[in-house]
Amino acid sequence: MSDLDLILQSLEALAEREGDPAPAIYARLFADHPDLEPLFLMDTDGGVRGSMLRQSFDCLIDMAEGGIMAPVILGAERVNHGTYGVPDNLFDAFFNTIRDCVKAAMRSDWTAETDAAWSRLLARTAALADA
Ligand code: HEM
Repeated sequence: MSDLDLILQSLEALAEREGDPAPAIYARLFADHPDLEPLFLMDTDGGVRGSMLRQSFDCLIDMAEGGIMAPVILGAERVNHGTYGVPDNLFDAFFNTIRDCVKAAMRSDWTAETDAAWSRLLARTAALADA
């Protein structure tokens, strides 16, 4: 199976098993990086967290498809997030958190092949910072 198919299949599994994955993803992000939680204090209704997550899924899928939008969006958001107080080395942490939640949701269906596809995708996403 191609990396694209493996990524899409795993994201579908997340949606099927978790429903709205936002609570699990943000709980994991804040558990791993407690300093990031106060940045969202103004987001009382979760709207910002919801659209940030949607944008992140769109970017991951576009990267997996080899699209041209994700590198542009991520370059701009990396700069925007500096002004929000997000350290540059933690911008990509969100993608790692998403991967970890997909893995947890898939349990034994998470295979070495799926793991390798995600590792390659996240390495390409992180490498955009150096471009
Ligand atoms: C751990 C990493 C990240 C942290 C801590 C973080 C934090 C934040 C915060 C605090 C805001 C609200 C800013 C404000 O309105 O004052 C925000 C907004 C946003 N973030 Fe992130 N971010 C992270 C990663 C990402 C990534 C990887 C993307 C992917 C594109 C992204 C996309 C967005 C978007 C689109 C918004 C605007 C949402 C809206 O206002 O509707 N963020 N982020």
